[in-house]
Amino acid sequence: MDINLDLWYRILAPRPVVLISTVNTVGISNAAPFSFVMPCSVKPPLVGFSSGPKHHTVKNIIKTGDFVVNIPGREILAKLWKCAEDLPAGVSEIKKAGLTEEKSVKVKSPGIRECFARLECKLHDRFRTGDHITVVGRVVRAYVEDNYFKNKEFKVRQADPLMHVGGKRFGLVGKIIKIQ
Ligand SMILES: Cc1cc2nc3c(=O)[nH]c(=O)nc-3n(C[C@H](O)[C@H](O)[C@H](O)COP(=O)(O)O)c2cc1C
Repeated sequence: MDINLDLWYRILAPRPVVLISTVNTVGISNAAPFSFVMPCSVKPPLVGFSSGPKHHTVKNIIKTGDFVVNIPGREILAKLWKCAEDLPAGVSEIKKAGLTEEKSVKVKSPGIRECFARLECKLHDRFRTGDHITVVGRVVRAYVEDNYFKNKEFKVRQADPLMHVGGKRFGLVGKIIKIQ
């Protein structure tokens, strides 16, 4: 069947969900979940995501020039959900959600300690894409917990990343299949 074009993106799912952490100009942190996320380039390492133009995340990035893409596992779903609350500018979702700021190595924005992987990014480009702003970041540091990356392979079953299906529904990696 044809579906309403306002709902098209709901069938491009599940999508990995990440928590993007930033700071404002006076150093107060912010974090929000995003599932419109994709790798854009390997060399140079570029990652992109699309944000509504009014979100604090995108406003902070444009002012400060950096952000961290934090990859969460299933155990922090409830805390991730709390980070989607629309708090006033300058109030950090990280502490309110019971998460912990982790000082970054290469950028001003802090990471989130409870996430198993963190990509520290510097703003590379941004452009209007319809009703969203697409932000492209250059990854300047990629960290993943030791247990989840062996022989250049991401141990996806062990890490158990969250995926967003839509609304309050999330998916998990149930099974990995391999082409012969
Ligand atoms: C699972 C999930 C995925 C989301 N993905 C996006 C997204 O890709 N783009 C977007 O603009 N908002 C997305 N949102 C909504 C924002 O996280 C939410 O509006 C948040 O309050 C924005 O926070 P900020 O103003 O602190 O940046 C998502 C929310 C949830 C719960």
